[in-house]
Amino acid sequence: MTRDGAVTSLVTQHAAAKINLALHVTGRRSDGYHWLETLVVFTEAGDTLTIEPAASDSLVLSGPFSDKLSHHENNLVSRARDRLRSALAANGRSAPPVAIQLDKHLPIASGIGGGSADAAAALRALQALWRAEDIDLRALARDLGADVPMCLSRHPQLASGIGEQTKAIEGFPALDLVLVNPGVHVATPAVFTALSRKDNPPLPSVSGLSTPSSVIDYLRETRNDLQLPAIGLAPEIEQALKALAASDALFSRMSGSGATCFGLYADPHQAARAAAQIAEHAPNWYVKATRSFATENSR
Ligand code: C5P
Repeated sequence: MTRDGAVTSLVTQHAAAKINLALHVTGRRSDGYHWLETLVVFTEAGDTLTIEPAASDSLVLSGPFSDKLSHHENNLVSRARDRLRSALAANGRSAPPVAIQLDKHLPIASGIGGGSADAAAALRALQALWRAEDIDLRALARDLGADVPMCLSRHPQLASGIGEQTKAIEGFPALDLVLVNPGVHVATPAVFTALSRKDNPPLPSVSGLSTPSSVIDYLRETRNDLQLPAIGLAPEIEQALKALAASDALFSRMSGSGATCFGLYADPHQAARAAAQIAEHAPNWYVKATRSFATENSR
């Protein structure tokens, strides 16, 4: 830190995977975006973003999914950097060059918000590095993508609008999960287009969800409206759901527009055992046991 408090050294941010526990599509906007209501949690599994001052801007990728990173998501981190720099420049302030390293552990374009989480992590890290506390990150995040604002926090949240209006849920518990991606890509716009009914009922009230079993009871009353259309485009998703059910998941469902699915388990040991079983059955799939952040642990 300098004497004025600016961070001059390395800033590391965890970009947590976003899991849509439930997602109801309630309408369609005239611009083609969809109204939705979704209950989201964030997990210990995620990417890691490291940023430090440098002589010139750079973005270096590492990690198991770095070679698969699409141009689009790659650009989302750079775009986050450029948006925050422009916002500072509009206030007559400079934002010196930075070296960004993205350690990519989440599968790409897979319904768990990897690119959105990376963009949100970049905004948070650069806000610290550039002392940009006065800049409204949510407005910048909204411009980067519908899911980026929710990824600015790790709170369990209820999101509405097109996903950009978020409300933290109080007292929500941690959940033991297994994430399974069968290695197929489904394009988000194609899944929304394939959804036949777009005026589905909203989510029931989320009040009183304080234990994992109350969450599971709640989830049984809800849906992911995108699951069926996604399976229509990529039948492998059904194989992932079957593998989760066969591993004694208490509940399983697809996240977001897919193809990643999640299972919920009674404790971390059962989640780890299920992950090992599924990975043995399907060695080429992404399979990860993890835990979601409870409200208390949220940043
Ligand atoms: O905002 P983002 O770039 O993440 O959205 C990707 C695409 O997903 C949009 O272009 C749109 O086709 C679709 N989408 C949607 N309704 C939402 C969010 C995304 O139709 N609420």
